[in-house]
Amino acid sequence: MAIEIPRELVESLRRARRVAVLTGAGVSAESGVPTFRDAQTGLWARFRPEELATPRAFRLDPRRVWEWYAWRRELVARAEPNAAHRALVAMEARQPEFTLITQNVDGLHTRAGSRNVIELHGNLHRTKCFDEDVAVSEWTDTGDVPPRCPRCGGLLRPDVVWFEENLPVEALARAMECSAACDVFLSVGTATVVYPAAELPLRARAGGARLVEINPSPTPISAQAHHVLRGPAGEVLPELLRAWTEHDPVLSPREDPPDARGDVT
Ligand code: OAD
Repeated sequence: MAIEIPRELVESLRRARRVAVLTGAGVSAESGVPTFRDAQTGLWARFRPEELATPRAFRLDPRRVWEWYAWRRELVARAEPNAAHRALVAMEARQPEFTLITQNVDGLHTRAGSRNVIELHGNLHRTKCFDEDVAVSEWTDTGDVPPRCPRCGGLLRPDVVWFEENLPVEALARAMECSAACDVFLSVGTATVVYPAAELPLRARAGGARLVEINPSPTPISAQAHHVLRGPAGEVLPELLRAWTEHDPVLSPREDPPDARGDVT
C-alpha cells in the first residue's frame, strides 16, 4: 500500500522544535500484542474489563487478575518491537525535543530503544503492593498467587493503571505540558476514547500544534486532525520518517566553501 505523506506535514516536521507522540495498543498490534477494542481480536471483545482491570475485580478475585496479567506479561515477553517502534526511535534520534507518551504497558518502546518515554498507564513488568501502593521488585516465592508483599504481607499486583484509578501524577503533568507545548503531535494506534490520555491530542491542537492521526480506522479525533494517515503504524511511521529525512539539508553534508561559512555579523 502506497502511503502519501503530505508535503505540508513534512515541512511542519522539519520546522518543528518540539514533537510529541501519543501511542496506544495499535502500535504493538504488528508485534502480535492484542489491542483492546478491535472487534474480534481486541482483549475487551474476549474479557470484561470490570472483572480484570479494576481494584474491585482484584479484591474479589486476586488470583484471576494476577494470572491474567501474568499471561499478558508472557505474551509480551515473546513479542519483539516492530517497524513502528523502530521508526519512533529513529525520529527521537533526529529531533532534539521529542517526547513519546504511551498508554501501552508492554514496555516495547523502551525495548526498541526509545529514551524519553512517558508511561501513562504503568508497566506490566513492574509490581507493586496493593495495600501500600509502593513498587516491589523482589519477593520470596511461597507459592501464593498473587505473591505477598515482603514488607507488609499484603497482596502484590501489577503496576498498571486500572479503571477507576488515577494516572501517575508526575507522568500526566509532563504529558500535558509536552502536548500543549509541541509543534507537531502524532496520535498513533489509539482509539482515543480513554481519558485523560484522549485529551492530549486536543490539548496539542489547542496549543497550536499540527495534529496528525495514524490509524487504519477513524477515531473521535479524526475530524480534528490536520492530517489523517490511514494505515498500520508499522507501514506509515517508516514512510513518514523517510519523507521527513529525505533530501533534508540537516542530514546532507554541507558543501559550502569554507569562506561562505561563519557569516556572523
Ligand atoms: P484500543 O484497543 O482502544 O485502540 C487501538 C487502536 O489501534 C484502534 O483505534 C485501532 O484502529 C488501532 N490499530 C489497530 N491496529 C493498528 C495498527 N497496526 N497500526 C495502527 N493502529 C492500529 O487501544 P488504546 O487506545 O491504546 O487502558 O486503549 C487505551 C486504553 O484502554 C488502554 O491503555 C487500556 C485500555 O482499556 C487500561 O487498561 C487502563
